[in-house]
Amino acid sequence: MEKATTLALEEADPAYAAAYLDMAKEYLLSDVLAHERNMFQSAVDDLDGHIRRLMDQSLGRGLDAGMVPQTTFWLLDGGVVVGTSRLRHELTPQMLRESGHIGYGIRPSRRGMGYGNEICRLTLGRARQLGMQRVLLTCKDTNIPSARIIENNGGVLENKVVSRETGAIMRRYWIDLR
Ligand SMILES: CC(C)(COP(=O)(O)OP(=O)(O)OC[C@H]1O[C@@H](n2cnc3c(N)ncnc32)[C@H](O)[C@@H]1OP(=O)(O)O)[C@@H](O)C(=O)NCCC(=O)NCCS
Repeated sequence: MEKATTLALEEADPAYAAAYLDMAKEYLLSDVLAHERNMFQSAVDDLDGHIRRLMDQSLGRGLDAGMVPQTTFWLLDGGVVVGTSRLRHELTPQMLRESGHIGYGIRPSRRGMGYGNEICRLTLGRARQLGMQRVLLTCKDTNIPSARIIENNGGVLENKVVSRETGAIMRRYWIDLR
């Protein structure tokens, strides 16, 4: 497996707008699941507004109903944005049940190269910096790469639940950051 080397995890910021837009356009042309693609439509339609909303979410501003403050990070490899992660600062009961604190995605052309393991590791470091002591990560029972990533990063399976949103079986893992 090709190894990622010159990696940096940066908070969403206009400084990386062009590199982020390049990834967003790739998602829109890719054959990933529709819900993944849809997350990048607003970036292509209104890049400045999209980035501003991400920055506001990190500060807890302008949150839609049911949302909590969350910080979005971009994983950069040599100036190329290769993936995104989100760190929720707190959880609603529904998030505690099936969404968890951290989500991530790697751009379609860069999957299978080790970036998923790295974005999770680096985002856990940010959670630790924020003073979080343990975090919940969840994934679909069938999402083997994501389950591997969580287990490689110290995830301990608590249980599996049926998602009330999708009906899918979700694995719930805890990672101790202390
Ligand atoms: C899940 C995802 C983030 C994985 O990213 P990635 O960069 O391809 O992952 P990595 O290359 O770091 O591989 C992670 C692990 O999965 C394994 N893996 C990768 N692709 C695999 C596949 N198709 N089948 C089985 N295992 C696979 C790797 O071997 C690795 O395990 P190892 O380090 O123990 O060998 C990526 O596929 C993605 O963005 N998917 C869509 C969004 C998503 O599902 N996010 C997670 C939501 S819970």
